[in-house]
Amino acid sequence: MDRWNGRVALVTGASAGIGAGLCRALVQHGMTVVGCARSVDRIKAIAEEDALKDAPGKLVAIKCDLTKESEILSMFDEIRRTLGRLDVCINNAGIGYDAPLLTGSISGFRSTLDVNVMAVCICTQQAVKLMQEKGIDDGQIIHISR
Ligand SMILES: NC(=O)c1ccc[n+]([C@@H]2O[C@H](COP(=O)([O-])OP(=O)(O)OC[C@H]3O[C@@H](n4cnc5c(N)ncnc54)[C@H](OP(=O)(O)O)[C@@H]3O)[C@@H](O)[C@H]2O)c1
Repeated sequence: MDRWNGRVALVTGASAGIGAGLCRALVQHGMTVVGCARSVDRIKAIAEEDALKDAPGKLVAIKCDLTKESEILSMFDEIRRTLGRLDVCINNAGIGYDAPLLTGSISGFRSTLDVNVMAVCICTQQAVKLMQEKGIDDGQIIHISR
């Protein structure tokens, strides 16, 4: 992990579960981690945990609804403007919509596809674009999927 010390990671779905755990681990290994989710206060609370306050890295919370392309693009603009680079993008956010094909709601299907598929595509495009802009040739894109 030494080579990632001081570098920048984005973790989507950082407010709970695996994403929150990833944020804790990466901050403890010295990374600056951007955690995004709709429940931004939950990410801010993680950043305030004792173990993270004394850690070598830091956790930056950004509110982002991944079903909205404009919010994803704004988040990447903010990362570019405030942190100036991105080295790792972990597409972790995901939702499980357990409904039958014939009776499930179209809005449920749409949200599931927007988070689990479209957001992964948009974040990956934006992350690679930012990495290339900054000449980062060892960046990592990690997909966590259902
Ligand atoms: N846990 C498992 O056993 C398991 C097994 C296989 C695969 N996975 C995969 O691992 C990943 C994480 O799973 P988990 O169990 O940790 O999930 P989780 O506890 O349900 O957390 C999901 C995360 O995704 C975020 N999210 C959902 N909709 C969002 C949206 N529209 N915009 C932004 N963020 C959104 C949630 O934040 P907000 O609600 O605050 O927005 C939350 O932070 C998922 O991709 C899942 O499919 C998990």
